[in-house]
Amino acid sequence: MNPQDTTLPTDPTASQAAQAVGISHDEAPDAPPRQDPAHDAPQPHGDTVTGPGMAIENPMIKINNLSFSYDNGKTNTLRNISLDIPEKQVTAFIGPSGCGKSTLLRCLNRMNDLVETSRITTGTISIMGQDINAKNVSPIELRKQVGMVFQKYNPFPKSIYDNVAYGLRIQGIKKKSVLDEAVERSLHGAALWDEVKDRLKDSALGLSGGQQQRLCIARTIAVQPKVILMDEPCSALDPIATAKVEELMLELRKDFTIVIVTHSMQQASRISDRTAFFYLGELIEYATTDHIFTNPSVPQTEDYISGRFG
Ligand SMILES: Nc1ncnc2c1ncn2[C@@H]1O[C@H](COP(=O)(O)OP(=O)(O)O)[C@@H](O)[C@H]1O
Ligand SMILES: [Mg+2]
Repeated sequence: MNPQDTTLPTDPTASQAAQAVGISHDEAPDAPPRQDPAHDAPQPHGDTVTGPGMAIENPMIKINNLSFSYDNGKTNTLRNISLDIPEKQVTAFIGPSGCGKSTLLRCLNRMNDLVETSRITTGTISIMGQDINAKNVSPIELRKQVGMVFQKYNPFPKSIYDNVAYGLRIQGIKKKSVLDEAVERSLHGAALWDEVKDRLKDSALGLSGGQQQRLCIARTIAVQPKVILMDEPCSALDPIATAKVEELMLELRKDFTIVIVTHSMQQASRISDRTAFFYLGELIEYATTDHIFTNPSVPQTEDYISGRFG
């Protein structure tokens, strides 16, 4: 795919196997078509959360009045979320366990399509101006543009090289020189090259946890997505490996739009440009990270970041 593309591809004939790109391999790859036409109908606008950092011109991701249900609309796990996410910045989702951070993250690459009874009950999500739930958008193609890194690093039981080359091979790239170049570039991009360059043919499973997570990041960036979603990517790592991944995120921000779920206030404040605080399925406050951590506008945000609940 041309990394210069500024629109989401909508080709529905993409290789089946491409579904594995950016998807944990224990997820069923076949996403059922969405049943709900919520995105086809004009939707009322929800309450707009205001605060410093809200005015974003040409956001990479635009979430508009999104409500989401896991039980066919009986209850909404996410309610009336409106949030613009800027390009090439790190946006952190924080909030107590169960508030819907991962659910919202998974809405951004239609991973929730895999839950049969789930649906968007109101609102829309656009990425690069394209409604990602429109009928002509292929979730497979979407996930090439919107990659995902999971809490539990999940390299394939293959060599380091084959892990990174995986997505490209699925796209039909066979030429060794092209693959070599992409593998090296991606491993450099994931700050792992120097540690593995002499053992590219060794099993990925022999790497340390922190290295395996950076390998998963290399695998994700190899296909040159626009957006990288990270769901608590450091929570299985020790402090040193965490520091490396955090440092890496600040580098990756130059090329990618990053959305990270984290339960660590320190991590959010260290690495993110903007922070969104969620509580019980609602967006309570969204602002620059500096504002959220030094002078939050909503008392609930202050209570959470100062450790009074959650
Ligand atoms: N696949 C699922 N099916 C049904 N309910 C789910 C599913 N995944 C998450 N939930 C529920 O949705 C709510 C939000 O979960 P989640 O998005 O994982 O929260 P967080 O990431 O903030 O901890 C929780 O009540 C959780 O139990
Ligand atoms: Mg979660």
